[in-house]
Amino acid sequence: MKKKAMPDFGAVLAGLALAFAACEGLALDSLEPVVRVDIALEAGSAASRLTIHNPGNHTWIVETSSDLSTWTTIDTLKVHNGWFQRSYDSDPLAAGRFYRARHDPAQQGLMSTLATALLLPASPFNYASPTLPASFLVRPITDQDNMPATNPTTDAGATLGRALFYDRRLSANQTISCSSCHQQAHGFSDPRPFSVGFQGGLTGRNSMGLQNARWYQRAHFFWDERANTLEDQVLEPIQNAVEMGITLPDLVTRLSAEPFYQTLFANAFGTPEVTADRISRALAQFVRSIISTRSKYDMGVAVNFSNFTAEENLGRQVFTGQVGNATCTACHGTDNFVPGNTLNNNGLENPYVDKGVGAITGRAQDEGRFKVPSLRNIELTAPYMHDGRFATLEEVVEFYNSGIVAHPNLSPPLRVNGEPGQVTPRRLNLTAAQKAALVAFLKTLTDPTIATDEKWSDPFNYGP
Ligand code: HEC
Ligand code: HEC
Repeated sequence: MKKKAMPDFGAVLAGLALAFAACEGLALDSLEPVVRVDIALEAGSAASRLTIHNPGNHTWIVETSSDLSTWTTIDTLKVHNGWFQRSYDSDPLAAGRFYRARHDPAQQGLMSTLATALLLPASPFNYASPTLPASFLVRPITDQDNMPATNPTTDAGATLGRALFYDRRLSANQTISCSSCHQQAHGFSDPRPFSVGFQGGLTGRNSMGLQNARWYQRAHFFWDERANTLEDQVLEPIQNAVEMGITLPDLVTRLSAEPFYQTLFANAFGTPEVTADRISRALAQFVRSIISTRSKYDMGVAVNFSNFTAEENLGRQVFTGQVGNATCTACHGTDNFVPGNTLNNNGLENPYVDKGVGAITGRAQDEGRFKVPSLRNIELTAPYMHDGRFATLEEVVEFYNSGIVAHPNLSPPLRVNGEPGQVTPRRLNLTAAQKAALVAFLKTLTDPTIATDEKWSDPFNYGP
């Protein structure tokens, strides 16, 4: 690909400035040290891609020229979440087109509309009435459904929730969004054992995957279930001193200043007013909309698992206890792989460093009891357990096979004979082939669409 050396217009443009060019990989630092503008001709494509890195979220004027002397404005765009990306078609070299992005201090009052801030479909995604497998329409899964009558998911409510979920305005210094710690590519969890908050501090526990949070009978949230509803839960990270560190009144003021939020709130709730209660309801609607029902396992339910390999079917039999003496389904039951109305201690250690529910109640009999997470997309949500201690599913399986620690609160299904008063941990004595098969089965719970479905992706203006 040919490259052209470009003059630095930063010197010519008054004030802060920027760079431009129609060359591959050209990156010029602007006069403002925090800003970087790349304009690249993507290899093999006829598009010129403009990327602006600008933590200050300024307004940029995008211009085009064929002779590098007369410039025509084609876009005036405000950066959100520190960067911005857009493609402009036609081969810039062939067509002799050049682009630049200019920062004009006099034009910083621009407020974003829905159309310039977000990339939303013309008619909203369907969040309100997802197509569910038959097993989700009957007990026991209907008993697990924690969507309250007071906050049913609507398409407009979840669309607002999606914007909030990906917006770094939700943290005090605008550096962290929910999605920083709940990453779509990782089943809405964090590949790091502990997540990094807005000032660089670490969370005390491993981030939790969010798919199918809607189905959990006890309807409580967090590893220690300290949030009584999802509506309560979603406001906690916002105000948490490590995670996002902003007060609700400050957040309401900040969001109210954005015209695009007024449109989103009006669409969802009838009036443009921003309130903490509406933020909570919209975020909860979005989280409840994140539904995984398209895994190989789901396809198998309908065909008696004839789509499984022999190894995956062996793993399924180990998981359910048809082969060997594992009791996984006692706690990871139903097609959501969650228990009924129980909190459990799975014998990770004794004593527990993190007492889980016990730290809240102060009762010895609650030490080491934690929420049992769904195993859906478990392949994507490593590392595992409340402290992220296991990096791989192989390690988890070996733990259940041979590593469970005796603890007075060890849940009965994990004890020898499951007897109360008998805390000797069960040993599974699985063969190497059975352990590998169990891992293969757990991987059938991966939903290939969860990590990529646009309806749960970042809607801010980073593309196309
Ligand atoms: C700095 C990282 C971080 C940020 C930011 C963050 N979370 Fe979390 N999230 C976590 C961690 C860690 C946990 C587990 C904490 C615990 O149990 O004590 C968690 C737990 C949750 C749970 C509980 C899931 C369950 O099954 O019980 C939900 C829901 C959730 N977060 C949603 C959100 C939403 C919505 C936002 C944005 C408003 C958000 N989180 C922001 C790290 C984060
Ligand atoms: C008595 C209940 C119980 C049984 C039986 C049980 N588990 Fe668990 N499982 C839990 C609890 C509780 C946790 C979370 C523990 C923690 O982090 O402190 C957990 C966590 C997990 C995790 C990590 C989830 C995550 O998101 O980090 C995996 C994977 C897992 N179990 C697989 C299995 C398999 C496979 C079996 C059968 C061999 C099994 N479990 C049997 C209660 C149980």
